[in-house]
Amino acid sequence: MIDVVWTISELEQFSAQDRPGVLIDVLRASTTMTTAIHNGARAVVPAASIEEALRIGNSIGRDNVLLCGERQGVRIEGFDLGNSPSEFTAGVIRQRTIVMTTTNGTRALKLLSGASPVFIGAFVNLRAVARELSRAERDPLIVCAGLDGRVSVDDALCAGMLIERCLKKRSKRAGAPELGDGAIAALALARQQGTVSVDFLRDTAAGQALERVGLGEDLALCAKVDSILEVPILRDSQITRLELAEQTADGVKRK
Ligand code: MLT
Repeated sequence: MIDVVWTISELEQFSAQDRPGVLIDVLRASTTMTTAIHNGARAVVPAASIEEALRIGNSIGRDNVLLCGERQGVRIEGFDLGNSPSEFTAGVIRQRTIVMTTTNGTRALKLLSGASPVFIGAFVNLRAVARELSRAERDPLIVCAGLDGRVSVDDALCAGMLIERCLKKRSKRAGAPELGDGAIAALALARQQGTVSVDFLRDTAAGQALERVGLGEDLALCAKVDSILEVPILRDSQITRLELAEQTADGVKRK
């Protein structure tokens, strides 16, 4: 059964064990992580708190990492980058290890650690994530990071559009997957909206919060459906590109 949790507080009602997990935090953690991996970051190491990010940074070596993240949307004091996808250009982050802490996204990711594999999903890489999920033997648990414990409709729309794509891929095979109620609701939202737009994102609580701190331009980058072909995957506490992770784990590159 494909399940969607609309807020992380629901997570304890679901088992993530031994099934694929997808973390969705459209505004902006999962969009930014995906952008970082696409632009050649060596790895993104998620940290649940500022203290943990500093600890990880110091243990790797402060000069060897970029400390990134936000609180209230704004770059954390003393950190190298905030959480805007536009900051994570190839020139800045190629071959760098990024230690990232965000208000909701990296915390939610920590809670998904029982799932296997754990993918990072956003509008920017919907098709790529759907492709990976269609290869998996078990149905996924899709986790919307939400906003401070509340629903984020941008995450829910992204989850619904992801399910729609998974269903299209699956309909070519025998048997449609069962959907939990969270998945049915997300799919209904996606079918009603059709797709995402910058205006849709601007009306959400997370979109308004970004506008308030002068980061409204990020919305256009976060709304770019299928602009990125990579699927970031969390393994051994760090996020890398799927192909790279598999090369390391299996010694073979997947076609
Ligand atoms: C989060 O993890 O809460 C977000 O990504 C917030 C943001 O980017 O401002």
